[in-house]
Amino acid sequence: MSPQRLEKIYKRQRQLHKQLVDHAADILSSDKFQSTRVHVQHGSIPVHRHCIDVAKHALMLASALRVRVSEKELIRGALLHDYFLYDWHDKDVRPEGLHGYRHPAAALKNASSDYELTDREKDIIRSHMWPLTLTKIPHCREAWIVSAADKYCSLLETLKLRHGAAAQYIENKKRQHRSAGADS
Ligand SMILES: [Fe+2]
Ligand SMILES: [Fe+2]
Repeated sequence: MSPQRLEKIYKRQRQLHKQLVDHAADILSSDKFQSTRVHVQHGSIPVHRHCIDVAKHALMLASALRVRVSEKELIRGALLHDYFLYDWHDKDVRPEGLHGYRHPAAALKNASSDYELTDREKDIIRSHMWPLTLTKIPHCREAWIVSAADKYCSLLETLKLRHGAAAQYIENKKRQHRSAGADS
């Protein structure tokens, strides 16, 4: 990939990150959301990274499809869609039953007790696993978009396609940014 292309991807990622911070700084900085850094979602990707990626891809998808959405609810719902707060690979701590069916309800329960959720945000969390959760069909555009973004990100993570040149470039730039901040 050309340096220009990599720089363009990096700038887009920074812009998306700013949108996330603008609408959900409280979620991003919370101890519980931060605690999801230690729980693996798929492959070697933590739940924390997965949820941020889903939120960014949901924004990109809405923009590519030119679908009018509530950006704030799209972001907040996406960040909280997997807010189940346990290691789903650990049989001793996860609830009975199939994780795929159970975790949207667990995420909704936790998110509802920690945040004042709108109906759209609840819909995003409740229905993100559809069609696996047959009766939990998305009812708003935001929920459809997050569900699609979640499937796309999960596929990339499962196939371990998240460590390409662009991901490496972004990580290096972030590191440079942090050390520049520390020097000043
Ligand atoms: Fe999920
Ligand atoms: Fe997910």
